[in-house]
Amino acid sequence: MSEAPTAGSVPKARSHFNNWISAIGAVIATGALFSFALLVWIDFTQDNPNPYLGLFTYIVAPGFLIVGLGLVFFGAWAQRRWSIKHAATKPDKWRLDFTRPAQRRRIIAFGIGALGFIMLSAFGSYQTYHYAESVQFCGEVCHTAMNPEFVAYHRSAHARVDCVDCHVGDGVKWAIKAKVNGTHQLIAYMRDNYNRPIETPLAQIRPAEDICAKCHWPEKEQGNVARRYDHFLSDKANTAYSLRMLLHLTERKPGGGIGGIHWHAGKDEKVEYYATDPDRQEIPWMRVTKVSDGSTRVYRTAEFTDEPPAGAIRTMDCMDCHNRPAHTFPAPNDSVERAMAEGTISRNLPNVKREAVKAMVQPEIVTDAAAAGQIEAYLRKKYAEAAETPAVTAEVQRLFASTMFPERKADWRHYPDNRGHKDSVGCFRCHDDKHLNTAGKAVPSSDCASCHTIIAQGQGPELNQLDARGLEFAHPDGELTPDLICSDCHNGGIQQ
Ligand code: HEC
Ligand code: HEC
Ligand code: HEC
Ligand code: HEC
Ligand code: HEC
Ligand code: HEC
Repeated sequence: MSEAPTAGSVPKARSHFNNWISAIGAVIATGALFSFALLVWIDFTQDNPNPYLGLFTYIVAPGFLIVGLGLVFFGAWAQRRWSIKHAATKPDKWRLDFTRPAQRRRIIAFGIGALGFIMLSAFGSYQTYHYAESVQFCGEVCHTAMNPEFVAYHRSAHARVDCVDCHVGDGVKWAIKAKVNGTHQLIAYMRDNYNRPIETPLAQIRPAEDICAKCHWPEKEQGNVARRYDHFLSDKANTAYSLRMLLHLTERKPGGGIGGIHWHAGKDEKVEYYATDPDRQEIPWMRVTKVSDGSTRVYRTAEFTDEPPAGAIRTMDCMDCHNRPAHTFPAPNDSVERAMAEGTISRNLPNVKREAVKAMVQPEIVTDAAAAGQIEAYLRKKYAEAAETPAVTAEVQRLFASTMFPERKADWRHYPDNRGHKDSVGCFRCHDDKHLNTAGKAVPSSDCASCHTIIAQGQGPELNQLDARGLEFAHPDGELTPDLICSDCHNGGIQQ
């Protein structure tokens, strides 16, 4: 590069980099480099690195570095062009000249500003780190992308557990995996090409022993847990029908010894299975391995005669049953019944159980924004003159808005809960009479008394007469034929 003679008093050799644009660029680049170093340090020293922090560390900070360096070189280039064209005719205003007092003051002010900027960028990176960690970032910044999960999370038992505790967990390997994945997700989100609904089960979620076992361990749950299920029939009187049951978590049926529902996740035996669909709802094959001697028992359906591909065999863990620990999307049938039990939907309106469910499952509802209006119109047509209508309408609208997300296609149909067997196959994916072992015997513990004991059913005083031996289930719609399973008729909306 040739030096152009400078106009003015001091004909000193001058670098093209000596100009204000390059100086500003240099400050930005230094700040970015500083932030980058700090974020990398945070990233590598934290126990629980956050996947989204990677975006700031490896994309945003280097982005600023490139912009800064770009300015440095642009300044030099512009200065060179300027000096070739005008150096002889115009005073050099762009130069940082320490010899002139007015300039010196400007340079000192600039220096102080620059130092402040670099310090702020350090502070900013630290804040960024905290922000990327937060539940707010996951749920609110990605508002439209994550909204359904975020809403569901807030009413779950885990509303005080951070998203990253389940979705990232400890350890460098998983943190890096999550980072790559997190960056993909954010890019997909910004380009608006993420899936609706977001697919589940999550292929990259860690095994339960790494995440759930931090706070839960199977040995801790003891005996039976008592549950009560309150229902209302789809008749004019909205007849109440409730069940009280003991679920055999770690005990078999009365007198049966230790075992029970949590046996699947216990240490003595391992349950593996093969699902033919991505949602893991169709399971034609499973294998139980006794850990102490390695002996196995295999069950398969008659149609499935192949061997499952080795890579597709999954070991059962907590999340095969508790697949919705933080994100439950209750079915309209359940949310309406719950509101009726709590009294927020008046039972005085004839057929309100059925009509409220119908209002929620109208096929015409395709956008979140129009749903409230369509629900209102439906209920007004049914109950125009009743005094309870406005309150019932408001409650049904609220239930809809918190459990169904038509634009995101997120609701109970796409995210079934595997814990039971009424509205979706759940336990009956394996516990039916269709999976047989080599001796032709079905999976044991598939009769109605293996998993739970019904201790009372019906309504009113019937619910206070407990029977510890267990009652046979009195199906409200009449006797059941054994060739149908519950989810052949029950679907969470209107029964078939
Ligand atoms: C108690 C653990 C836990 C917490 C806390 C948690 N999740 Fe999840 N999340 C899960 C499990 C388990 C799944 C389903 C995994 C599967 O079936 O493979 C899931 C699934 C998801 C999915 C995929 C769609 C779906 O519904 O299956 C998204 C998105 C998601 N979570 C976002 C979040 C966000 C955002 C937060 C925080 C606001 C959060 N999660 C907090 C355990 C958790
Ligand atoms: C950071 C600790 C923590 C982690 C991690 C955690 N849980 Fe929990 N979980 C809790 C606490 C605390 C409760 C009790 C909340 C209450 O009773 O209100 C709970 C309650 C539960 C319940 C009973 C309430 C319900 O929803 O029916 C289940 C089931 C459960 N957890 C499953 C899981 C599963 C499965 C995982 C792993 C995906 C998991 N938890 C991860 C702390 C945790
Ligand atoms: C992936 C298949 C699969 C799913 C899903 C499944 N189970 Fe099982 N379950 C098995 C197998 C296999 C056995 C043991 C068969 C044997 O002993 O040979 C078993 C055994 C049991 C036992 C008896 C355990 C003992 O020894 O005391 C109970 C109780 C049980 N299951 C309840 C449930 C419940 C409740 C659900 C749903 C929340 C469920 N299972 C879902 C496969 C499954
Ligand atoms: C075979 C299915 C299955 C597996 C596997 C399973 N659970 Fe459960 N779990 C259930 C069922 C069913 C219930 C009781 C019904 C309910 O919560 O509505 C239950 C209840 C619970 C509860 C609530 C207990 C209470 O007192 O309210 C917790 C906590 C829990 N499970 C945690 C776990 C953890 C942690 C694992 C993994 C180590 C696990 N479960 C594995 C089916 C399962
Ligand atoms: C493999 C275990 C298992 C078997 C076998 C089983 N159940 Fe269940 N059942 C469950 C679990 C787990 C729940 C709890 C679901 C929940 O809490 O969401 C349940 C819930 C129920 C409920 C209450 C559902 C509600 O919403 O009111 C009824 C009624 C019921 N079972 C009846 C039966 C009948 C009848 C049979 C025999 C045909 C049967 N069960 C066989 C595991 C089983
Ligand atoms: C042949 C279809 C069919 C089968 C199979 C069936 N049900 Fe039902 N069930 C109905 C009908 C119809 C009603 C009445 C609906 C109403 O009044 O809301 C009903 C009502 C109920 C109710 C009370 C109302 C409600 O909406 O929850 C429960 C609880 C119930 N069934 C549980 C079960 C269970 C558990 C099974 C499996 C063991 C089962 N049903 C199998 C058709 C069926």
